[in-house]
Amino acid sequence: MTRRQAIKTTALASAAFATLPGAIAQTNSTAPAATPSGPFTLPPLPYAYDALEPHIDTQTMHLHHDKHHAAYVANLNKAWEQMPWGGPPPTFTYLVENWLKDPKFLSENVTIRNNGGGHYNHSLFWQMMKKNGGGEPTGDLAKAMNANFGSFSTFKDNFTKTALGQFGSGWAWLVWDGGQLKIEPTPNQDSPVSQIASILDGGLQFQIPLLGLDVWEHAYYLKYQNKRADYIAAWWNVVNWDFVAERYSKLKA
Ligand SMILES: [Fe+2]
Repeated sequence: MTRRQAIKTTALASAAFATLPGAIAQTNSTAPAATPSGPFTLPPLPYAYDALEPHIDTQTMHLHHDKHHAAYVANLNKAWEQMPWGGPPPTFTYLVENWLKDPKFLSENVTIRNNGGGHYNHSLFWQMMKKNGGGEPTGDLAKAMNANFGSFSTFKDNFTKTALGQFGSGWAWLVWDGGQLKIEPTPNQDSPVSQIASILDGGLQFQIPLLGLDVWEHAYYLKYQNKRADYIAAWWNVVNWDFVAERYSKLKA
């Protein structure tokens, strides 16, 4: 990896909000989401709460975004308040680059590991889905998937197995790992951006999440109860491949 590529991956890792400022949060909610106070804020959904119906139900989206993601943000803000801090309030980029990419810091600050990871993962997750999503990727991403996994269907099968096999709460991810595409699980709210990439050349590199699936029960239990397999099968219908392809193209360019 060249220094230029390393800088690009750094920028992309912390760009979870990249498409949000221009996105209009179309909500059908009668009550706005709680706004946790502090330097970190809850991004609005980039679509209406019912946009992913019938695959992801409206009530789950309200609970997942307005309560669970909001709680990660609120707890992250509380953790920050309790830290000795001599500088300006930390930004989202600071969270990613200085906290989530520091294994020693994460091991010593479990509250930030869990809630900072939760904030980062969910900020991406909302954008990885869209109304009338699904299908298959095209273009360079499709070629890369064929090269790395053999075919899209093989990727889909392996990703599904990874998501099903995650014991307890966690995530399944498609990650960029030093130039390769890989499927990785993470437990709890650990993020690929905290995982050291397997190809190291010219400095410490981290995986970049391209697509993630939240398999915490809070993501599906209201509609699917304990049938995680049914949730995963439905989720493929809302995947935002345009977002995934855009992230991949920035790494590849
Ligand atoms: Fe979640």
